[in-house]
Amino acid sequence: MARMIVPHTTSTPGPARPVRKAVVPAAGLGTRFLPATKATPKEMLPVVDKPAIQYVVEEAAAAGLDDVLMVTGRHKRAIEDHFDNAYELEQALAAKGDTVRLDAVRDPARLANIHHIRQGEPLGLGHAVLCARRHVGDEPFAVLLGDDLIDPRETLLSRMLDVREQHAGSVVALMEVPREQIHLYGCAAVDPTGERDVVRVTGLVEKPSAEDAPSAYAVIGRYVLDPAVFDTLERTPPGRGGEIQLTDALQDLATGGTVHGVVFDGLRYDTGDKADYLRTVVRLACARPDLGPEFTAWLKEFVTGLENSGTGDRRIAA
Ligand code: UTP
Repeated sequence: MARMIVPHTTSTPGPARPVRKAVVPAAGLGTRFLPATKATPKEMLPVVDKPAIQYVVEEAAAAGLDDVLMVTGRHKRAIEDHFDNAYELEQALAAKGDTVRLDAVRDPARLANIHHIRQGEPLGLGHAVLCARRHVGDEPFAVLLGDDLIDPRETLLSRMLDVREQHAGSVVALMEVPREQIHLYGCAAVDPTGERDVVRVTGLVEKPSAEDAPSAYAVIGRYVLDPAVFDTLERTPPGRGGEIQLTDALQDLATGGTVHGVVFDGLRYDTGDKADYLRTVVRLACARPDLGPEFTAWLKEFVTGLENSGTGDRRIAA
């Protein structure tokens, strides 16, 4: 998408308008998950029996956001097809009377009004968000990273929408992480507010070293953004890794005192990371009423086998 040149304006927060739209960036290269992501977007990797990105869209829909824009990259087809109708498959399942699978196939397309836009080149998360400008217009909007899963039992996004309504401006989700992991995240400098789980963000820095980090609060993949962020992104130069960083634009807005953080201490998974992906699958499989009891029983036996033999009982693993 061609970048528009917009004159520098001061970023005052808009009034607390309701949030209706969600943007799901899913155009990254996914290099941490190669070779699986050579021909498949990491957002389409299955978590039990649904692609990761379906959980993300379900989360947006559950929070009342019924307009979802996917920002896709070179593997656009797989994501588009997943959220579209699949007539031949649906007809075959209908002919067999397999209504359970028919519903499972139809569900993704029914979750929300889903739109797609292409990020021609993966120039960074900030650039991916900027690609959504025309679709979003002058409205506040949510951003949900397509490989970042918040456990379906959590209500983080709804809480962030409440905070936006109360304070206007933009809202980021923060999680306390061990200091030695802060270099993997954007990090926020914060001031307390009267509310236990809400802070005022005074500064943001992308992937700082443990020594330079202003706190242990990591920015995780949920944002509720004021449309003022678009003007800021337009003038944000490439930062760390040569990418246009959303963190850098938010740092600009934070200086103006218009960014709050919701501190989250629930379950969150980065499915773009191999080890975290495995944890996600295991946790969500255990929580599933249809698979959980049998899988959990097997898992316990497997772990016992691991503890006893150091390598696991091959009969159980078989
Ligand atoms: P990541 O920081 O995980 O980067 O992106 P990545 O390139 O996708 O993955 P690795 O690090 O090489 O394994 C966070 C989110 O932002 C999206 C990604 O798709 C992911 O959902 N993203 C990132 C874009 O949409 N466009 C970009 O240019 C960069």
